[in-house]
Amino acid sequence: MNYSDKVMDHFINPRNVGELENPDGVGQVGNVNCGDIMRMTIKVVDNRITDINFKTFGCGAAIAVSSMVTEMVKGKTLEEAVLINRDDVAVALGGLPDKKLHCSNLGTDALKAAVNDFWRRTGQPQKVVKLEDEHLEQESEEASACCGSNERG
Ligand code: FES
Repeated sequence: MNYSDKVMDHFINPRNVGELENPDGVGQVGNVNCGDIMRMTIKVVDNRITDINFKTFGCGAAIAVSSMVTEMVKGKTLEEAVLINRDDVAVALGGLPDKKLHCSNLGTDALKAAVNDFWRRTGQPQKVVKLEDEHLEQESEEASACCGSNERG
C-alpha cells in the first residue's frame, strides 16, 4: 500500500498528541470493524477551537488522519470545524488508499464528538451534529476509562 509523503510525515511526526487538561469537550469514537479508537480533547474560546489534542489506538493512517484533523481545525469556529469531512482530510493528506478512507471517518467523527460534547455541556443540544458512523460514539465518561497502554499518540 502506497502512502503519500504527507501521510508518512504525520504518521512519523504526529502533531498535537496527548490529552488537554480540563478540556471543554471530549470525543471518542471506535470503529467496530477494525477496533481502532480515537479520542480528541478540545479547548474552546469565543466559539473557536483554540487547542486540540488527540490519542489514537489504531493504524498508521488513523494516526496521520488524527494529526491532520487537529491542524485543520485549530482556530476554526465550531460550526466550521464540524463541516470538515473525510474527503477534506484525505485531500489534505495528499490522498489515502481506498481501503483506508474509513480511517479518516474516524478522525472527523472524533472531532465532531468532541464538539457535540461541548455543545451538550454548554446547553446547546440543538447544535449537535450527526457522525458519519453514529453508533460508534462513546460517552465521554466511558471514554476517559478507555485508551490503555498501547495507545499511540
Ligand atoms: Fe482502523 Fe485505520 S484500520 S482506523
